[in-house]
Amino acid sequence: MKAPRFTDLIGNTPLIDLTRLVSENSAELYAKCEFINPGFSLKDRMANYILDVAEAQGKLKRGDVIVCSSSGNTGCSFAMLGKIRGYHVVIVTSNKCSIEKQNHIKALNADLIVVTQDTYMSYGENYAKENGYFDVNQYNNIYNPEAYYQTLGPEIWKQTNGEITHFVMTGSTFGCISGTGSFLKECNPKVKVILADPVNSNIYAYYYSNYSNSKNDLSLNSSLSEFSIIEGAGKSAPTKCLDFSVIDEVVKISDEEAISTCHQLAKEEGLLVGGSSGLNVFAAKLIANRLDRKQVVVTVLCDSGIKYLSKIYNQEFLSKNGLKSVKMV
Ligand SMILES: Cc1ncc(COP(=O)(O)O)c(C=O)c1O
Repeated sequence: MKAPRFTDLIGNTPLIDLTRLVSENSAELYAKCEFINPGFSLKDRMANYILDVAEAQGKLKRGDVIVCSSSGNTGCSFAMLGKIRGYHVVIVTSNKCSIEKQNHIKALNADLIVVTQDTYMSYGENYAKENGYFDVNQYNNIYNPEAYYQTLGPEIWKQTNGEITHFVMTGSTFGCISGTGSFLKECNPKVKVILADPVNSNIYAYYYSNYSNSKNDLSLNSSLSEFSIIEGAGKSAPTKCLDFSVIDEVVKISDEEAISTCHQLAKEEGLLVGGSSGLNVFAAKLIANRLDRKQVVVTVLCDSGIKYLSKIYNQEFLSKNGLKSVKMV
């Protein structure tokens, strides 16, 4: 009998129909179920690809130490894949990372270092440099967008029979939107790529100040003071993985909009997904509602809601964080 190993199940996730969530005669809306990956997020694709490349290039050998700064999911993926490939894995995350993701990383036998939101990226970089360890460096590693260029992009193209017209995705390293967007635009230059940016991120301002001809200028730090509880979305500045040339539009989404959409997905579709998926679906609905039925909008359900039961699915947490108006339904 032939059956795959668990971690061979990365990628080839289903595409589901969410068109019933948009208004009548608007575009069709579909979503990639990335929470079905073995580590319950899209990040398995990237971790798997980066390890394959590093091993092929002779940059990693059994027993080496891998250091990864992560808002949580990349940490879960490297903990899962690194350990079974024979490496010691150290994950550096911020105190914003949900307790569920922290425990997920620890349960997979990786070491976990928790520092502040402002320092976790530089902490990991310095820690790897000082000790001569392999640094995943997901924010600047070209193999991060390439992983999505090689996998998610082709899957979406195939699953939509080449009919996709709009791709909507949030970003943190921006590997997913850059790699997937680049592949889709190579297939059809008319495909529009839309970045969904949360309130505490500066990318909307960067885009309209520096890259777009549109007049949506914002002062660069105007939105940074706002707090967001969405994990894995937004950045204070562009990363090296962010390819602005593939982005046609940036939309700003509030936590209320993102989290209400998560609750709607749970109630109406039986879908329990993380906050960045709610952000994506809200933005994708916005885009779909201004188009007609001939258009096909695709977005990404980035990770599982099980990772945030103590946060976005917890009324007490929501109220404490000023999201009283977001009621669990
Ligand atoms: C839950 C979640 N959604 C979205 C993203 C964004 O993906 P990318 O880093 O490719 O921009 C991440 C990345 O950390 C994430 O963890």
